[in-house]
Amino acid sequence: MKDLLLNLNPDIKPYFLRIAAAIRTAITSGQIRPNENLPSARKLAEQLNSNRHTVMAAYQELIAQGWVSSRQRQGYRVAADLPVQGSRKISGAGHVADKTFRWHINPTPQVPQGSMRALDFSYNFAGGLPDIESFPFREFKSYMSDSLTRPDLFGLSYGNNNGDRQFIEQVTTYLRRVRGITDKEIIAVNGSQEALYLISRLLLKPGDKVAVESLGYRPAWNAFKTAGAELLAIRQHSSGIDIDQLESLFKQHKVRLIYLTPLHQYPTTITLPITERLVIYRLAAQYNVAIIEDDYDHEYHYQSQPLTPMAADDPSGLVIYLSTFSKIMFPGARIGFIAVDKSLATDFLNYRSIVNHKPSVLMQSAIGRWMKDGAFERHLRRTSKKYQQRRDNLVAQLNRYRQQGLALDFHQPAGGMALWLDIKQRAAEIEAYARARDVFLLGERHFHLLPENDENRYIRLGFAAMDEQRLNLGLEKVFGYFS
Ligand SMILES: Cc1ncc(COP(=O)(O)O)c(C=O)c1O
Repeated sequence: MKDLLLNLNPDIKPYFLRIAAAIRTAITSGQIRPNENLPSARKLAEQLNSNRHTVMAAYQELIAQGWVSSRQRQGYRVAADLPVQGSRKISGAGHVADKTFRWHINPTPQVPQGSMRALDFSYNFAGGLPDIESFPFREFKSYMSDSLTRPDLFGLSYGNNNGDRQFIEQVTTYLRRVRGITDKEIIAVNGSQEALYLISRLLLKPGDKVAVESLGYRPAWNAFKTAGAELLAIRQHSSGIDIDQLESLFKQHKVRLIYLTPLHQYPTTITLPITERLVIYRLAAQYNVAIIEDDYDHEYHYQSQPLTPMAADDPSGLVIYLSTFSKIMFPGARIGFIAVDKSLATDFLNYRSIVNHKPSVLMQSAIGRWMKDGAFERHLRRTSKKYQQRRDNLVAQLNRYRQQGLALDFHQPAGGMALWLDIKQRAAEIEAYARARDVFLLGERHFHLLPENDENRYIRLGFAAMDEQRLNLGLEKVFGYFS
């Protein structure tokens, strides 16, 4: 053990008993645990500016009392069985420690039953999980290493809080080239969730209305609700959203924000058609409603070129565009970015500085180098091909089950990492049945803003994270329900 913080009580004399008492307090307060090594007598003497023999005398005293044990050449350690089991009662704060402290906590949101629990299952159909195992860690390591070998000292300091320079440059070029977004300010964030929270705090006041897809992404809703906003459900139909109802929401309420996942609607995976996008945009401009466009898995689109984001054609500058590396890399990267109108950028950055002086730049710097080198786009091509094969396999499997007589319906998703499956009945029961067989999936009830809309007939199947063999086995277990 290296240093050990000791509180010496000057009233205790002689000095070796003072040291012994301080070590005993460190043990009983839980600062050091049974069986943990203690500093050597020499080290502790140095730390206390004392004599090694005095410390040895203190240790001998504690050995005699049963708090410490010593073995030749292994030094001193806290006894495995303490004479009095460590508890706060004997830590010196005994007069108050019997009372359990009560926190006064603000209401916390309902956290989705998502990937946290999903990882405990052998067959994981969680919707947005990438294939983390096959991420090119070795390749990426060289860009990480380069960021440390040739660091951007300017970027590592305070200031310049919109993100690593090269990362921002690369993302700007990439967005212009691949997504047609040209006229926005790019700001790096520690994942989309941070952006959603900050945007909510920046733009919403308690009581403000936010229109969201009726089946949707709960973490975004939680961010809006935490800012005190009230959510209004936008009705959806089989190929998009109900524009007339959206307009009547705009007419009836002072809506501040609308949150959309237009490319692959979360969770149904439907692509919002161009005609509807144009009408929504026109309405948003007319009623002065900002749009958050969450384009969380743009890269994975298999049918044809993905539709250009709404942010690419935004003359009023009202679209806040969100994107993440959680799907391209892995959620633990905690890297995302927003593309916003220049008129919003400074306020966003000022607001962010309350929470964070700047986003963590080291990972961004490695990603910037990865992008510059072209390896990033090669990775996208590889994973996109793989996920398309996995989607095709899932579709083939579902068709096979259908031919065997199971009543299943679905749209083949044009992209993304999940499929929205209509099993007609008992989705919640199937979810529970699957869990009991080591399979994680979510039924539709988890995605409804209004619980009364739950028809208990859809499940969401993520297909990107598992290879074909595992996915097929998982499906077999799920559909065992019907046999
Ligand atoms: C709709 C949607 N937005 C954003 C994200 C990613 O969030 P983050 O970048 O905070 O990991 C996800 C991930 O599941 C998602 O499903």
